[in-house]
Amino acid sequence: MERTVNIDIKATAGFVSDADLSRYESLAFKALDILEDGSGRGSDFLGWMDLPSKTDESIISNIESIVKDWRRDINLIVVTGIGGSYLGAKSAIDALSHSFRNNIGKDLPQIVFAGQNLSEEYHAELLDLMKERSVACVVVSKSGTTTEPAVAFRIIKSYIEETYGRAEAVRRVVAVTDESRGALKGLADKEGYRTFVIPDNVGGRFSVLTPVGLLPIALAGFDIRALINGAAGMEQICRERSSENPAIKYAAIRNALYSKGKKIELLVTYNPKLQYIAEWWKQLFGESEGKEGLGLFPASVNFTADLHSMGQYIQQGERTLIETVVSVKRSNRSLEIPLDEENSDGLNFLAGKSMDDCNKMAELGTKIAHYDGGVPNILIEIPSINEFNLGALYYFFEKACGVSAYILNVNPFDQPGVEEYKVNMFALLGKPGFESKANELKGRF
Ligand code: PA5
Repeated sequence: MERTVNIDIKATAGFVSDADLSRYESLAFKALDILEDGSGRGSDFLGWMDLPSKTDESIISNIESIVKDWRRDINLIVVTGIGGSYLGAKSAIDALSHSFRNNIGKDLPQIVFAGQNLSEEYHAELLDLMKERSVACVVVSKSGTTTEPAVAFRIIKSYIEETYGRAEAVRRVVAVTDESRGALKGLADKEGYRTFVIPDNVGGRFSVLTPVGLLPIALAGFDIRALINGAAGMEQICRERSSENPAIKYAAIRNALYSKGKKIELLVTYNPKLQYIAEWWKQLFGESEGKEGLGLFPASVNFTADLHSMGQYIQQGERTLIETVVSVKRSNRSLEIPLDEENSDGLNFLAGKSMDDCNKMAELGTKIAHYDGGVPNILIEIPSINEFNLGALYYFFEKACGVSAYILNVNPFDQPGVEEYKVNMFALLGKPGFESKANELKGRF
C-alpha cells in the first residue's frame, strides 16, 4: 500500500555524519517514549495524540447538521479566529479548493476569515462583502479572550443581529470554544448559539482535527471523515518503533542539522494551494520550539514563484538554511503544453509534456542546485492533495513537532512569549489594571 507520508533524506548527505544521525535517532526514540508515556513537559496537552482514532461520531453528525442547515440559504461563512484557531482550517480549505473557487461554480458557500488581524480596512471591506451576501459566522477561540477575534466578532455579531434580527442570529452563529471557561462560552450560552468544544487537553496549534478545523472544512464542502481517517492511519504509523517512522526520521534529521549550525528551516511548496499549509507548519514549529533561546526558525517559500525572488539568497547567501520540501507525487489535474508551429520562445522541446512534468523537473533541478550550494534538502512526499492525505500530513507534522521539541528539551505546548505584546497592547489601549505598565511604556520609541 502506498504510504501517505514518505520522507527522503538522501540530499542531507555530507551535512551530518551517520553517527550524528543515529545519535539524533536515539534521542528521537527517547522523545517519542516521553511523549507517549506523558512524562514530559506540558503533558496535560497531549489530547491531540489519539484524537483521530477517538473522534466521536456525534461531533461529525452535529457538524453535518450545521452544513445541511446553512447550505439552504447561506452563501458567505465568516470564520473568526487567529493562530491555531484559524490556520488549520484556512490551510485545508485552500489546499482542497479550486484555485478560483469564489469565481467559478456558485453551489458552495464562500468561506472568508476574520479576526486574524486588526486591520480596519480588512474588516470594513469584509462588511462590504457581507452586505451583498447571506451571512453566517463560526467564531473560534479556545480562551474566548483573544483580542483580535473578539473585536472582529463584535462587529460581525452586531451586523448579523441588525440585518437578520436577534432570533435568526442565533441560527447564523456557531461558537467553537472551551467546554466551560472563557468569555466566548459565557456569551454563547447567554445567546443560545450552537457550540462545539475544544478539548482542554488540545492546544490551539494542535487543534486542526477538532471542530476548530473540522467545522469550517466541512462547511467548505470537504470530506472530514476522510481527513480524520487519514490522520488515524498516521496515528498508528507514528507509533512505530522504527527508524522508518516518519515522525522519528524528520525530527531526528532536522535536529541533527540544527546541531551543525543550520538555523533556518524553509518549508518549500510547489503549488500555491499549499501556501497556508506552510503558514500552519510555521506556527506549529515556531510556537512549539522557539523558546529558551532555542529552535530552528521556521520560514517558507512557494516555488517556482519565489525562485525569482528568494532563489538567489538560498543558492548563495548565508549557509544556515535547510529546505524541507512538501512534494505532491500526482497532480489532480492534467494539462499538456501545446506545440507552437513558430516556436518563437524556443520551447517546443516541452510540447506534449504535462505542466506537472515541468514542475517536477523544476523541483529536482532546484534541489540539486541548492544542495550543491550548501543547503541540505529533506523531502516529505504525499501521493496527492486530498482530504485523506492532508489528514495524514497534519498528524505527521504534529507528532514530529512533539518529538522534535522534546529532543530540544523545551515544552512544546506553551507559548509564554506570545503574552508580552498583549500586555503592552492592553496597557497602550488603556485597559483597566494596566496603568503602571502604560506609564512605563510612555515615551518609549
Ligand atoms: O497555539 C495556540 O495556542 C495559539 O496560537 C492560539 O491558537 C491563538 O493565540 C488563539 O487563541 P484562542 O483560540 O484562545 O483565541
